[in-house]
Amino acid sequence: MFETWEELEKSIIGCKKCKLCTGRTNIVFGTGNKEADLMFIGEGPGADEDREGEPFVGRAGKLMNMAFNGIGINREEVYIANIVKCRPPSNRNPEADEANACIDYLRNQVMLVKPKVIVLLGSVALKNILGNEYGITASRGNWLERKGILYMPTWHPAALLRDENKKIEFWKDLKQVKEKMENII
Ligand code: URA
Repeated sequence: MFETWEELEKSIIGCKKCKLCTGRTNIVFGTGNKEADLMFIGEGPGADEDREGEPFVGRAGKLMNMAFNGIGINREEVYIANIVKCRPPSNRNPEADEANACIDYLRNQVMLVKPKVIVLLGSVALKNILGNEYGITASRGNWLERKGILYMPTWHPAALLRDENKKIEFWKDLKQVKEKMENII
């Protein structure tokens, strides 16, 4: 683990730890406030993120931004990262060997940000962070605590694009997060 952002960011340049490196345009490292109390973890970059080098800038990200605006979460104040930093082909889920190769970057990011609350966006984030025994349908909307960090699993914003009903639940989950942040700070 690196003690500084400079060392961590330097360590990922030219990363070839897994096969996703062969298809990438940009490494999508993470964005936002490096001292945030609130962090969001997604799955992996899509085509837009790969092109721009920033997480959640495509359709799913725009939907997430709309929810942020409605609820009063400031995108610049939170930190946003993904389980894998390079785009899986055809937007498939990251495979276990890819997630395992990449996860230490994310762990290091969490170590440096020191968030109080982490929102896990979708099943891939939930399983890779808290364990394969968790399912998103049963876990979403419920707080979980690990090593002093509170976790809120919720739907991945891309799931909202496929199923309108999930929008209300996503909204409710983020409202819980907003309220928690107000109580913590
Ligand atoms: N989906 C994700 O999980 N992460 C992104 O950055 C974009 C879409």
